[in-house]
Amino acid sequence: MTLLRVENVDKSYGDEEVLNGVSFEMDRGDVDVLMGPSGSGKSTMLRCINRLTDVDSGHIWLDDTDVTAPETDVNELRQEVGMVFQDFNLFAHLTALENITLGLKRVRGMGKAEARDAAADHLDQVGLAAQADSYPAELSGGQQQRVGIARALAMEPKLLLFDEPTSALDPELVGEVVDVMADLAAGGMTMLVVSHEMGFARSAADDIHFLDNGRIVESGPPEQLFERPAHDRTETFLTGLQSGEHR
Ligand SMILES: Nc1ncnc2c1ncn2[C@@H]1O[C@H](COP(=O)(O)OP(=O)(O)O)[C@@H](O)[C@H]1O
Ligand SMILES: [Mg+2]
Repeated sequence: MTLLRVENVDKSYGDEEVLNGVSFEMDRGDVDVLMGPSGSGKSTMLRCINRLTDVDSGHIWLDDTDVTAPETDVNELRQEVGMVFQDFNLFAHLTALENITLGLKRVRGMGKAEARDAAADHLDQVGLAAQADSYPAELSGGQQQRVGIARALAMEPKLLLFDEPTSALDPELVGEVVDVMADLAAGGMTMLVVSHEMGFARSAADDIHFLDNGRIVESGPPEQLFERPAHDRTETFLTGLQSGEHR
């Protein structure tokens, strides 16, 4: 059942300990949310999982694969672990559809027609069938992020990582992206999401992990963390979040 196992991960940059003994597990179909102050190590944790950076010690397992082993094929791993970025990372000179077909052709080896069909299906899934031929500059931030999600989905990953997917968006565009994420969650996608969107966390998260100074202070289901946090630090942070302090 376990899909992802993060075991005692340490990571430093120079003298700074960015991750300190981080451990957690996700079952297939779980949606976990990572929260914590800026600089607490959230992005670094995600980046270790798809090997955009390497751990110093500890292990990360995806099914039976030791992600952290030097011999692990990073390109294969990144097909299994998709990532959605805060700033979308779309190619400006490619249409929405072409942003998706690119990886399908290059990485998955699909022919042109097959890639186009698959990309169109995934654009439809995020409600953007009509925008297939639009360039990123012709799309709103919310639409661009939905293309980013469709691109990640098209690779049919086992796990999707989201790094603050709505924090670059104007407030009125957050909802359309959160709705797509909630649909994916309901559809059984395994998702590890760095986000401070309380509505999403409350309705979709199985567990929330509160990270501070590179350590998981506390983990638990949303009702537990939000209503009965065990640590003052968690309570202070979440209370600040509810009053809009971290936006
Ligand atoms: N490539 C890097 N080189 C040096 N320091 C880094 C690097 N990436 C992150 N850091 C530092 O690690 C700490 C945690 O960063 P990060 O994981 O981005 O936190 P968060 O996503 O929670 O804001 C920060 O102090 C940041 O400056
Ligand atoms: Mg970050």
